[in-house]
Order: sequence, then C-alpha cells, then structure tokens
Amino acid sequence: MIVDNLSNSKSTVVDHIATLTGKRPVFYATDLADAEGMEQIFRSHQLEGVLHFAARKAVGESCHDPRGYYANNITTLVQLTQLMKKYEVVRFIFSSSCTVYDATRTEAPFSEDAPTGSCSSPYGTTKAVGEAILRDLAVHQGFQIASLRYFNPIGAHPSGLLGEDPAQPPTNLLPVIFQVLDGKRDLLEIFGDDYPTPDGSCLRDYIHVVDLAQAHLAARDRLTEQSAPCFVPINIGTGTPTSVYELVAIVEEVTTRKVTYKTVPRRPGDLPVAYALPEQAQQLLGRTAQRSVTDAVRDGRHFVQHPPHGP
Ligand code: WQD
Repeated sequence: MIVDNLSNSKSTVVDHIATLTGKRPVFYATDLADAEGMEQIFRSHQLEGVLHFAARKAVGESCHDPRGYYANNITTLVQLTQLMKKYEVVRFIFSSSCTVYDATRTEAPFSEDAPTGSCSSPYGTTKAVGEAILRDLAVHQGFQIASLRYFNPIGAHPSGLLGEDPAQPPTNLLPVIFQVLDGKRDLLEIFGDDYPTPDGSCLRDYIHVVDLAQAHLAARDRLTEQSAPCFVPINIGTGTPTSVYELVAIVEEVTTRKVTYKTVPRRPGDLPVAYALPEQAQQLLGRTAQRSVTDAVRDGRHFVQHPPHGP
C-alpha cells in the first residue's frame, strides 16, 4: 500500500510499479496531516508495519523554511505513530539521514554510534528529533524500529519506469546536472570549492537508489523476525566518498557531454564531508551497496532521457 499526498510525486508511479512487479499497490492520495483520512486507512486494513518516506528532504530549502520542515516532518510523524499505536501496528522503518550526525563532535566516515544532534540544517534537525521520538516509542511503547540513515541516493530503476521526478524543481546535485545537459539550466552552480577536501568541493556518499530500496526490504525482513522492541539506526551508504567535481566528471564520461559550471559561494547547511561506515548494514541486513556511482548516473540519465509518462 502507498499513501502519498502527491506534493512532490505523480500517481502514475503506481502504474509503473504495477508494470514492474505485476502487482498493483493499493494507493491513497492522502496527506499524513489528514487525521480522519489516515484513521480511515488504518481502520480499513490490517497493517503489518509502516515504511515512512513522507518528509521534505532538501538541506538548502530547509534553511529557508525551517517551520515548514518541522510541521511536515515532525508533526505528521507524531500523528502517524499515534495512529500506529492505536491500531497496534508497531513495526516501523524510518527514512532517516546522515544529516543527523553532529559534525561539530564527529567526523566522517560516520558510524551509527557517532554523536547526533546540533545538525547543520533544519532538515537534519527534523530527522534527529524524529529519531529521538522513535527511540522513546521503542522504549516506552514497544515499537520495533529500523532507522535507515540515507546518505545521497541517486539514479533510477534500470527499467526507466521509476526514478527521480520531483514535482518541485530539483535541488539535488545529479538532477540539476541533468537539467544543465538538457538545456533547462544554463549552468551548474558549484556551491563552494574552498572546503578542506582534496579538490575543495564537498564529499558525499552517493548510493544507487535501487541499493537503497533493497536495504528497505532487508530491514523489513529483519524486523519481521523481531519480537522484542528495538530502535536500530543503520547507515545506508557505500562507504566511498565522491566530490562534486568527481561526480561531474563521471556524468561527462557516461554521457560524453561537457557540463557547464561555475563556482559560487558555499550553500548554508552543507557539510564539507559526509560518507558512511557501512559495516552495520552488512552485519544486520546482510548487504551493502552492489552498484557503483557510474551505474547510478547511467540509470538516472536513462530515466531522464526516456521519461515513462512522456516529456
Ligand atoms: C550534494 C553536494 C552541494 C546542488 C542529500 C539529500 C538529503 C540527505 C543528504 C537523505 C553538496 C553540491 C548541489 C547544486 C552543488 N539524504 N551541490 N550545486 O545536500 O548532500 O543532501 O543527502 O536524507 O536528503 O538531499 O545533497 O545533492 O543537494 O548536494 O554544488 O546545484 O552537491 O553543495 O556538496 P545533500 P545535494
């Protein structure tokens, strides 16, 4: 089942999932903030658990709209978990983020026991607060929770049917680069190359979105085996850092096109370096990333060039 308010996605995704899997998910175009609509869903189905993806997630945007991020990401999480408790649904997979790590007290590569909080952006704060809420629900209300700390998901399903197709203008690096290649933007603005890194641009851990999806299935399977309450944070990253310039170079190699860019001042909220120690994912989920950044760039480009619902 999918519940999505379509604020940043399209209902045709459900059709593509049906094409790919041969099974059509039940779909509700409901906002998590719609208390009555959400209660109706819980009343109508015997749910086994919840995978929560419903959050705004742009680091830069959150610095301009912190209250909008707190309302959307935290308030609706509280409302959802209240409903879950009421209907005795306690298995929960949370889309958390590497931005929960406290860069003032820890350095990359981040391990799951590194300090969190004092985040560099309101977005990160919403995820750190979300995790604090969920830890309490595990301790005091019997919830079984896997908190998957995403690093930088990129790419698309190799079929070209599912990919990053936001309703709002993209802010993430790879979709922006693709817009430059397609003439939708004049150039890529690189937000600072005066960071303490080898080439001066920020380092990130770009993970293929299919590897991210498969980590969720593995987490669901592990939770299904659980009986005791738990809160388990797990990094979902490759463990390999890639700089902005390096990603640009990979795109140029995959597409045999030049990316026009210019360097501009730093973007508020950006961490200089963020990449994962992926060992816990290997131990608990029995898997880590199988695909490369090049694979993700290739699959992402294929999706953008052949949009499943037309240009
Ligand atoms: C990556 C790098 C920018 C755009 C993402 C997700 C976030 C979280 C962490 C899951 C940075 C630079 C970008 C541009 C640029 N993941 N950049 N010009 O900020 O790392 O956050 O990963 O929770 O939800 O959004 O990703 O793609 O915005 O930036 O120079 O036009 O690219 O400065 O160094 P970010 P991003």
